[in-house]
Amino acid sequence: MPLVTTTEMFKKAYDGGYAVGAFNVNNMEIVQGITEAAREQHAPLILQVSKGARAYANHTYLVKLVEAAVIECPDIPIALHLDHGPDFETCKSCIDGGFTSVMIDASSKPFAENIAITRKVVEYAHDHGVVVEAELGSLAGVEDEVNVSAEDSSYTRPEEVEEFVSKTGCDSLAIAIGTSHGAYKFTAAQCTRNEQGVLVPPPLRFDILEEVSRRLPGFPIVLHGSSSVPQEFVKMINENGGKMPDAVGIPEEQLRKAATLSVCKINIDSDLRLAMTGSIRKYFADHPDHFDPRQYLTPARANIKAIVTHKLIDVLGCAGKA
Ligand code: G3H
Ligand code: 13P
Ligand code: ZN
Repeated sequence: MPLVTTTEMFKKAYDGGYAVGAFNVNNMEIVQGITEAAREQHAPLILQVSKGARAYANHTYLVKLVEAAVIECPDIPIALHLDHGPDFETCKSCIDGGFTSVMIDASSKPFAENIAITRKVVEYAHDHGVVVEAELGSLAGVEDEVNVSAEDSSYTRPEEVEEFVSKTGCDSLAIAIGTSHGAYKFTAAQCTRNEQGVLVPPPLRFDILEEVSRRLPGFPIVLHGSSSVPQEFVKMINENGGKMPDAVGIPEEQLRKAATLSVCKINIDSDLRLAMTGSIRKYFADHPDHFDPRQYLTPARANIKAIVTHKLIDVLGCAGKA
């Protein structure tokens, strides 16, 4: 089937009590690892591209890689989404250039300005059959060149969501309930330590999620910054020349719970980066004389597939839902 929008996916996810995984893509091996997992698990899928990914790999290459994946996976619905669109022009370029979904992220702007920019993107997108994700509240962490400190992040205010959605006409809403971008989501001071000495982050604000859902019944909610930072890959990186102390993510059981509620899209990028980096570091440590990219990218791609398979089955609950 051709690329789809997220409308049908989200309706089924909302009603079915699961979430669709949105995974960031930057090159061929990442696209292949993700889509092989989704094809095998018969799961709906969102492949998303950031401004940084477009700058790195070029819009056309990324669209063509995703189109190749669509040909290779004829039985699952795949949406191509712009992640964190910073302005109208970037959204327009992706709408004109084959994407089926865009995010306009004006969450750092004042409320009225966020509404105005989002509304403008929604009008253009809907005229072209494309859906729009918007954001209210701001997450801590690093995305592209924007680094939001924990002090400057802010939870979504539930009392704003009805006005925001009705005035913008957006199709889904990303909210801030304590997730955070990157592999270093929380400082040690924000966390406690478990018996193994691993940092345990503060729990997600399910009270905010529930209040948002009460105010927007049936409306799809999105969680960004939802990598869990698997310690297995942090260890693999640290044991093979890397240095990632105290990298910690969102516990998977909390994401699983969010997926059973109104959260229909969960964004995962850093976990795939960790899987890829750990695999490549280990490969070079084990084979210091090798230099063929096909050799070291093979276990990297396999581990991306493995982590995505785990997410589809155990975290998102969307395996078998295509
Ligand atoms: O939230 C941001 C995503 O992880 C994409 O990261 O902007 O470095 O491509 P990026
Ligand atoms: P992570 O950094 O937690 O993977 O979040 C990715 C994300 O939200 C992309 O928009
Ligand atoms: Zn994000």
